[in-house]
Amino acid sequence: MKIIIFGNMGYVGPGVIERLRETYPKGTIIGYDTGFFASCLTNVDYLPERKLDHQYFGDIREVPDYVLEGADVVINLAAISNDPMGVKFEEVTLDVNHKSGIKLAKRAKELGVKSFIFASSCSMYGAASDGAKTEDSTLNPLTAYARSKVFTEQDLKPLADKNFTVTCLRFATACGMSSRLRLDLVLNDFVACALASKHITILSDGSPWRPLINVKDMAVAIDWAITRSASHGEFLAVNTGSEAWNYQVKDLAEAVAKVIPGVKVSINTEAPPDKRSYRVNFDLYKKIAPNHQPQHDLLTTIQDLKKGLEAMKFSDSDFRDSKLMRLKVLTSLQSSSQLSSELKWKTN
Ligand SMILES: NC(=O)c1ccc[n+]([C@@H]2O[C@H](COP(=O)([O-])OP(=O)(O)OC[C@H]3O[C@@H](n4cnc5c(N)ncnc54)[C@H](O)[C@@H]3O)[C@@H](O)[C@H]2O)c1
Repeated sequence: MKIIIFGNMGYVGPGVIERLRETYPKGTIIGYDTGFFASCLTNVDYLPERKLDHQYFGDIREVPDYVLEGADVVINLAAISNDPMGVKFEEVTLDVNHKSGIKLAKRAKELGVKSFIFASSCSMYGAASDGAKTEDSTLNPLTAYARSKVFTEQDLKPLADKNFTVTCLRFATACGMSSRLRLDLVLNDFVACALASKHITILSDGSPWRPLINVKDMAVAIDWAITRSASHGEFLAVNTGSEAWNYQVKDLAEAVAKVIPGVKVSINTEAPPDKRSYRVNFDLYKKIAPNHQPQHDLLTTIQDLKKGLEAMKFSDSDFRDSKLMRLKVLTSLQSSSQLSSELKWKTN
């Protein structure tokens, strides 16, 4: 088994390496990443990439054939990975996430890769006032980031055939501890606020629905996708998470306040409801991946984040301006002239 993971040096990647190394102790596992966040390590004793057979540093916009040759499986995690970055870098988001992802899939297919796994997102459901969204529900992407995921799925679909299986895992919003922790994710942000300032302010009326998934359970789903049965379709897009993790934002804040004593939660009752609100139906994933269901629950995820942040001696109430936010890292690399306006490394 030879697996290439694109975008492995972010928040999700380290857990994927860990999991796949356990599943394929003798497999060849290779990483390919441009390394925007390579130095954003949190609480590590060793580099997560140590468990790979090889790490390439390169841009997904220009993947040399030798990276893909002989590979059985390609996992694409590489992305400009949230809405605020998509606002600031709209064209790059569409180029990296959509155009380059499709170019990669086409070349992978030509070179004999058998399975392509794409980290998609439930954010493509956007604003939804009615019931929980199934895979057949209408998509309503509200941002460049969400559109990039919709376009990618659309263009991956015709590539799938009996020799090239495509799995789009529509992940819920990630949370939990990682070797490259991000605090620009709702639950992680709440735990960080609680620890740093004993105060969580919800910048909405708290009513939006936001399904979550522990980052380690994302790795489990990717592991499942590698060997999933073709009977579920040569092309498969599946909501990846669990019914139990469909939370309203205010429930998340209250759950954090229960674990961390003395935390005040303010809900801005005047605020208009956040337009991004969606409940998601995870029945399909439950049916087709019964042995790879999310195992972590909200309480242990919060406790684990607390433990991880305390071990980092985290106390920065200005963390939204820190390197634990992906957008801040990119803008700071740009202001120090390391990255161009197109988010390409400058060589000189
Ligand atoms: N974190 C979530 O809540 C979540 C939810 C659903 C889907 N996803 C998807 O999962 C994937 C991984 O998310 P993450 O949280 O680890 O994001 P991240 O931003 O932490 O990591 C993304 C990785 O992609 C790499 N990358 C970006 N542009 C690149 C380029 N041009 N060439 C090569 N590498 C490039 C970055 O260096 C980084 O290592 C993304 O596709 C994301 O959209 C994440």
